[in-house]
Amino acid sequence: MLSHKQLFLLNTAQTSDFPRLLEVEKAEGCYLIDPLGKKYLDLVSGFAVSNLGHRHPKVIQAIKNQLDKYLHVTVYGEYIQAPQVLFAEKLNSVLPENLSSVYFTNSGAEATEGALKLAKKYTNRSQIISFHHAYHGSTHGALSVMGNEYYKQAYRPLLPDIQFIHLNDLPDLEQITSETAAVILEAIQGEAGVRIPDIAYLKALRNKCDKTGALLIFDEIQTGFGRTGKLFAFENFGIVPDILLLAKGMGGGMPIGAFISSKEKMDVLKDNPILGHITTFGGHPVSCAAGLASLETILDENLIAGVEEKEQLFRSLLKHPKIKEIRGKGLMLSIQLDNFAQVEAVSKTCVENGVIIDWFLHCDTAMRIAPPLIITHDEIKSACEVILDAISAH
Ligand SMILES: Cc1ncc(COP(=O)(O)O)c(C=O)c1O
Repeated sequence: MLSHKQLFLLNTAQTSDFPRLLEVEKAEGCYLIDPLGKKYLDLVSGFAVSNLGHRHPKVIQAIKNQLDKYLHVTVYGEYIQAPQVLFAEKLNSVLPENLSSVYFTNSGAEATEGALKLAKKYTNRSQIISFHHAYHGSTHGALSVMGNEYYKQAYRPLLPDIQFIHLNDLPDLEQITSETAAVILEAIQGEAGVRIPDIAYLKALRNKCDKTGALLIFDEIQTGFGRTGKLFAFENFGIVPDILLLAKGMGGGMPIGAFISSKEKMDVLKDNPILGHITTFGGHPVSCAAGLASLETILDENLIAGVEEKEQLFRSLLKHPKIKEIRGKGLMLSIQLDNFAQVEAVSKTCVENGVIIDWFLHCDTAMRIAPPLIITHDEIKSACEVILDAISAH
């Protein structure tokens, strides 16, 4: 009989020659557990998904309750499904007034696709402005606004009329004109190795969009749901986008995403043509039930309150002559090293020693730290010891 590893390599499509190959038997709280019972402290959270940790009891209970009622019943936007409407209501209650209409998707990339379509339809313009080093997903539209040519070149032609500007570069804002449908920006650039926009820059960007009528799309797929020390990262900057993208941490471990805007804007998806965005599984009732339970838990248990202190603990412990810089906000951090070989060797050693860290798509000199928000101070201390030992060894 073939092992699971052999079956994985044989029967599931491979997207690189060096997958991590960690077999997961169970996941609980901040830990993954392999078939031999070895525990791994998860400092990646399945890539900023498990903000509440793995299998949070309240999320599991909400999923079980929904399993007893119904699973998929119809395509998005037709029947009234309590988990969907209650989750949308809860999201609206924590978002500004202009972000009051929620379109539920399956994933982050689909949220990006929906937002680009909405901006084009609402403004009747086609130009999209994105940023160098941006990541918004891997489908054709999302790939078109990715700020890294390496991942795009094999898949051209992509969407036309896309321009790229540099983050925090004020003169570049001149490229936003009355021809621009939308500017799409990660609230904090994640795959770029965690790059934070300046507040003054964001205010100027917001002004420029207001002046030209371009819609400002904020991608909070990685930064949302408490990761940066606020429920949504835009709260750190004092500006509000026209369209908000969510996914990843949204479902408490279940697949779901959303693009959110005003009712007035969203209504353009209704006419000419009708059904401006169609999805079969978007807003799946089990995912919505899990998402609602997850958001309620983040708020009721005040999990965001401890995030900044945990960031400071990481920063105070991760001191080493080989660490050039720690970047980031809250529990979305990057450790800047020298080169990719070192990043790869250190991450591998950390995983062997029971601490999961990883790297970034568009920054090969940095390591990713994005643990569940529920990580304890003791767990941070023991994780940092493992990381520092691994850095010393390489
Ligand atoms: C900022 C950002 N946007 C969009 C996406 C795409 O989300 P998904 O993988 O759910 O399609 C990601 C995924 O890593 C992301 O980090």
